[in-house]
Amino acid sequence: MFNQLQGVAPDALLKLIVQYNQDQSTSKVDLGVGVYKDEKGNTPVMQAVTAAEHIILDNQQTKSYIGPAGSALYCELSTQLLFGKNHPVIKDRRLSVAQTPGGCGALRMAAEFINICSPGATIWVSTPTWVNHIPLLGEAGLQLKEYPYYNYETQSVDFAQMLQTLDSASEGDLVLLHGCCHNPSGADLSREQWQQVIALVLAKNLIPFIDIAYQGLGDGLEEDAYGLRMMAEAVPEMIVASSCSKNFGLYRERTGTIVIISANAERAAISSSQLFSIIRGHYSMPPAHGAAIVETILDSSALHGQWINELDVMRARLTDNRTALVASIKAAGAGRNFDFISAEKGMFSFLGINESQVNRLRDEYSIYMAGSSRINIAGIATHNVDYVARAIVEVL
Ligand code: LMR
Repeated sequence: MFNQLQGVAPDALLKLIVQYNQDQSTSKVDLGVGVYKDEKGNTPVMQAVTAAEHIILDNQQTKSYIGPAGSALYCELSTQLLFGKNHPVIKDRRLSVAQTPGGCGALRMAAEFINICSPGATIWVSTPTWVNHIPLLGEAGLQLKEYPYYNYETQSVDFAQMLQTLDSASEGDLVLLHGCCHNPSGADLSREQWQQVIALVLAKNLIPFIDIAYQGLGDGLEEDAYGLRMMAEAVPEMIVASSCSKNFGLYRERTGTIVIISANAERAAISSSQLFSIIRGHYSMPPAHGAAIVETILDSSALHGQWINELDVMRARLTDNRTALVASIKAAGAGRNFDFISAEKGMFSFLGINESQVNRLRDEYSIYMAGSSRINIAGIATHNVDYVARAIVEVL
């Protein structure tokens, strides 16, 4: 049976990790996969996380099963983080919530849920979108269609084209939106644009599906949830996938959340029963440790405050890196304007160079980034920013 299999290429982003690790150059720079890095290029464990782990170790009574939805406390607190404590969808008990193995687990369980509600439903994804959206949603049986999002010439959101394309969507289609810090472009919708998307979703009876993997790394925890919270106030049904990989630094703990908003509490109970049954049929129940860390932090005012302070430092570093990179590229004499990088949010921006220039940066300068020229802004540091800027100007 296995003899018939054809090999598949490794995921391009994950391959970059291997290539970078194998590179012996002392000046190598990793601008590839989206993990936060400090000034020394390390991805540290957040102090609030370490403190929470000590508390868990000292107090944990059992490692018995927790059920498909995961920890109830985690679900409650992560829902509050997303929507705010007093959001009407919480008060009206319209939510079905489950702790998932990372944001990917949430995305895939959402796709399976949609496929049960409406087999082969159409979901509109931004062009470009995070590469892993395609298999996570498509391999569950959803039909993917694309709406234009990022204009590589103006280096900004092509909002008119986005609206025009979504206007051709059919009633009941889903629209995947990035809650904040668009991956891979870093170009986010403004508040006014969110309002227009909400109006379109309502007018066309579309179902919004918001993937929010970077809450707190754009403008702030509350600010980054603006579109999600406004959308949830307006629409009868919606799906959210969130991740704790980036804002808690829990990449390998696989900690995420799926939230399904139904029209009322009665419908939500039915959605929950379906969701938990889907989870049971896929991985039975989620791993506990990451969620235990998150709930321990969010449930303690001291740890919560400490975590927010650490997140503030991370966000400020990303902003500073953007400013420093733009200034260094200018100083290196680029004939092109890169100011757009300063206006973008979160971990990523496109440099806007072609694939052979990306390859030259890798082969001649040991600077690693995705083939699309997406860079991880966190990989920039004081000691490498001028080197990176000069190399970019060289290959332009
Ligand atoms: C990225 O986009 O680099 C991250 O979300 C990591 C991943 O799994 O692709």
